[in-house]
Amino acid sequence: MLITIPKVLTPEEVKICRSLLENAQWQDGKKTAGYLAQGVKSNLQLAIDDPSAQKISEFLLGILHSNPTFIAAALPSRILPPRFNKYESSGAYGFHIDNAIFPHPATGQQIRTDVSSTVFFSDPDEYDGGELIIADTYGEQSIKLNAGDAVVYPGNSLHKVNPVTRGTRFASFFWTQSMVREAHKRSILWELDQSIQTLAQCGSDPENLARLSGVYHNLIREWAQT
Ligand code: NI
Repeated sequence: MLITIPKVLTPEEVKICRSLLENAQWQDGKKTAGYLAQGVKSNLQLAIDDPSAQKISEFLLGILHSNPTFIAAALPSRILPPRFNKYESSGAYGFHIDNAIFPHPATGQQIRTDVSSTVFFSDPDEYDGGELIIADTYGEQSIKLNAGDAVVYPGNSLHKVNPVTRGTRFASFFWTQSMVREAHKRSILWELDQSIQTLAQCGSDPENLARLSGVYHNLIREWAQT
């Protein structure tokens, strides 16, 4: 299940991050690619200890923790610090599946990549190509969002970034270990949560809404691991 989250960042916040990203020290993305990925990866990344990366990363984490749509979609237990990439001059990243586990750079704690997220820092009209293609149960989905928007998708999905043939594409990506490990269970919880939110906005009967909301929390109690 793919969930797009519009306006995670305001245009003003995007502008501040963009100026940091445009002046940062970019490195060859192959440095962090595994043996198989090296052959299909041609992009630029910021080192994890890059000062600009750390600044935007902390800022993004603060925003994500208070974004109700992200919380409902990912049901986060632990979030790895966001990373940053830059694609230009036909840069691309062919089909791959991300590593299952990454150590947290600060604590060394092993974190499982249940959920992948990308936050776009370039608007679609700034570059050609650069679509994030995600192979999901119903075929390939093509994602190219406005700057400040995000997409959340299962970490076990095959995905790629098409070659950027004009302009520059800046983005952030990060992984989340979810309290609910299985994507199909998160999908059920997401549907239930969204229905409850919609019914609440329609002024539905509070007693039945409370019962339905109870079902949601009881399912979390059944499935969540913290
Ligand atoms: Ni990837």
